Amino acid sequence: MKMLNWSVAALTVALSAAGSVLAEQAAAAALPFPSSCPGVTATSRYKLSAAPGWNYALLATGLSTPRGLVFDSEGHLLILQSGQGVTAHTIGADGCISSSKTVIQMAQLNHGIALSPDGKTLYVSASPTVWSYSYDAKTMSATGQTVVVKGMNQGGHASRTLAIPPNKPSLLIVSLGSDGNIDVAAAKKETGRALVKVFDMSKVPSGGYTYNTQGWYLGYGLRNEIAIVFDGNNMVWGVENSGDQLTRSANSTSSVDVHINNPAEELNYLGDPSKSNENWYGYPVCWTVGDPSVITDKTFKVGQQFVIAPNATLNDKTCADTSTPPRLSIKAHSAPIDGKFDKDFENMFVSLHGSWNRQPATGYKVIQIPFEKLESGAYDPVAPQDSAAGYLDILWTQNEGSCSSASCLRPTGIAWHPDTSRMYVASDGSPGELYILYKASE
Ligand SMILES: *[C@@H]1O[C@H](CO)[C@@H](O)[C@H](O)[C@H]1NC(C)=O
Ligand SMILES: *[C@@H]1O[C@H](CO)[C@@H](O)[C@H](O)[C@H]1NC(C)=O
Repeated sequence: MKMLNWSVAALTVALSAAGSVLAEQAAAAALPFPSSCPGVTATSRYKLSAAPGWNYALLATGLSTPRGLVFDSEGHLLILQSGQGVTAHTIGADGCISSSKTVIQMAQLNHGIALSPDGKTLYVSASPTVWSYSYDAKTMSATGQTVVVKGMNQGGHASRTLAIPPNKPSLLIVSLGSDGNIDVAAAKKETGRALVKVFDMSKVPSGGYTYNTQGWYLGYGLRNEIAIVFDGNNMVWGVENSGDQLTRSANSTSSVDVHINNPAEELNYLGDPSKSNENWYGYPVCWTVGDPSVITDKTFKVGQQFVIAPNATLNDKTCADTSTPPRLSIKAHSAPIDGKFDKDFENMFVSLHGSWNRQPATGYKVIQIPFEKLESGAYDPVAPQDSAAGYLDILWTQNEGSCSSASCLRPTGIAWHPDTSRMYVASDGSPGELYILYKASE
């Protein structure tokens, strides 16, 4: 009996040792999907739904306005928390966050974060400035702060999205929005507003590039291109926050409020970031039709562009002749913030922060835009250019129509885990949160 007990104990020890090795191998092979995380309680202010085949879990709450997300080369998630800085988060074997560390403490930081493809240079932005740091993923530390782009303090929209083409690691893309809703002066790209620019980080001049006068263009007439996304050819797509409160005046005695579904938010093809793109995308003159039915003086299709008050020299034909329209329209006022393709470049996922200028409200969700590879080899949305329904909801707030910024999910940054099993999605409402979103069965 004694002998047997000893054997059972020995066997138990042996089995549990084998079990923990197996568990470690399993963890390395596949990170589990936690249904909840220790000490993390969902807000009671809103209920979420996920599309069939999708699931989600809340990983963190109490973050400070989380915006950009990026994974480092050791699998830590870096979060730019606006007004605070950058934090690094270790994902534990249970799929939850096991520890967190402050990487950069700087209240000015408000949105942009990018890591060079080799993982060694971290870029972060505040409204006027982009800085670089040497980054050590093992210790999660950033040193050697250097100004790389300066002179962006030009009012209005404050986020400066940063992105590095995966195949051109020395290039840094910096997006800068308009000063206000209709920034008349920004029709000229020399203002350095309502456009996207590219800078070569291997040749940064002493003191940094001056945004307005240096670098090259990746499109202008882009009101506020917050989401900058690379497709499978490393070509750039921008997702644009378009205007508010628009009317249409067919003549001096007529003015129609068209703002509920116009102008559409835009998915724009910006192309190869290594070449200057000086195409004009229409802002602040040409706006994209989201709902043609309310523009009663003329027949439009979704995706065509209109002017607020046509006259002999500047009218809808001017737009058709000179402006590059979006490739796809997204519902007006949705407020796209970030976008990422899946690993096979079959879908672009976009976070929609949510509307303030639309009743019923819209956005407050994550959408999926199906893409296809054309015979030419280019990636392109599946939906035609005149579609208003070229995307699906993946994760949304149940009471979308009555949402406000205080009461619903506020999706911002999106990052895929390096193993591509799950997307991390930040929400910058109060409290700031972090979710994972993943395929429920595969
Ligand atoms: C002005 O435009 C409105 C809307 O299309 C139209 O009904 C009206 O007849 C126009 N007025 C003039 C003076 O052309
Ligand atoms: C046409 O409209 C534009 C934009 O509002 C304005 O700058 C221009 O002076 C107008 N031209 C005429 C001939 O009224």
